[in-house]
Amino acid sequence: MSSLDAFAEKTLADLDAKALRRNLVATARGAGAGAVRGGKALVSFSCNDYLGLSLDPRVIAAGQAALARYGAGAGASRLVTGNHPPLVALEERLAAHKGKDAALVFGSGYLANLGLVTALVGPSDLVLVDALGHSCLFAGAQLSGATMLRFRHNDLDHLRGLLGVRRARHGRVLILTERVFSMDGDRAPLPDLLALAEAFDAWTLVDDAHGLGVVEPGARAPLEMGTLSKTLGSYGGYICAARPVVDLLTSRARSFVYTTGLPPASAAAALAALEIVEAEPERAARPLRLARRFTARLGLPEAESPIVPILIGEAPAALALSAALEARGYLVVAIRPPTVPAGTARLRVAFSAAHSEAQVDGLAEAILAERA
Ligand SMILES: Cc1ncc(COP(=O)(O)O)c(C=O)c1O
Repeated sequence: MSSLDAFAEKTLADLDAKALRRNLVATARGAGAGAVRGGKALVSFSCNDYLGLSLDPRVIAAGQAALARYGAGAGASRLVTGNHPPLVALEERLAAHKGKDAALVFGSGYLANLGLVTALVGPSDLVLVDALGHSCLFAGAQLSGATMLRFRHNDLDHLRGLLGVRRARHGRVLILTERVFSMDGDRAPLPDLLALAEAFDAWTLVDDAHGLGVVEPGARAPLEMGTLSKTLGSYGGYICAARPVVDLLTSRARSFVYTTGLPPASAAAALAALEIVEAEPERAARPLRLARRFTARLGLPEAESPIVPILIGEAPAALALSAALEARGYLVVAIRPPTVPAGTARLRVAFSAAHSEAQVDGLAEAILAERA
């Protein structure tokens, strides 16, 4: 066996021993919140399509029309010939939605964060990241070469302390947080955080991957980043900001400049979805309402977003509960380290406008029965 294969096998064996190996499972999504795995029909609570828009006929039709009109791929980077009209139209709409001058669409949310952070800060600067921030926020901070420090999750006293001690030592300071935390479902204290940042002349990036369209924004940050892949039911990422910032990113964000543009059909589908988000507030309010119904049934703290974590602790126990729920017809994938901190493996329950009240109650009863 080659040393490469031996390395892979040994590393996988170590992961297996800790119940941390990850495997792909073919999953076909279907109407409502349905999913089919291994031939078995399940109700899925593990999808980020919070408003069910990826399967909405209007979104699909918009994508199909753009596919027919512009082709399957962008054909080049956006700065060459890949800047198709649906991308431009989507950017205008995103900027208006966020109350910003301009927007820039990237190939994905992950790429948006990598490009944004590395374009704005460098080795003499400081990046302060919420400890529960998404992997791509940390990756961007590391890639930038700036000094990176974590502040305790949503702890503004800690953040204030770090700014107080460190601010003067660095030219630019960037704070990275999330409107809705992806694995915990709680929300950043944005108005206070933004005021604190301003007092120290620090810039704030809010990752809105899980907030757009499903929670009230609270306050807008100077840098509003997000993804097209969750509520907007498509694929791609974006950043909304003031015009000079967007113009700078257009020239300097490497994950924008040196990569092929997003397929135009993905942008057209996301634009149709954003129009529905704005036109149908009742649909947008439903996932949070269902999440609150669920937390009330289980006696958990009231949900702050459509994401509800059920903390288990160790990975094997989280996997076992997930398997037991699957046997009862519910797909709730276990989330394990390093996606979440060691000792906090969990089930992450995500609610969608496509769920019925009966499905939500059924899941709550199944969990109560399994944990009795
Ligand atoms: C908080 C957060 N930021 C960024 C991303 C990356 O977005 P994308 O899937 O578009 O790459 C995700 C999830 O995928 C996320 O949960």
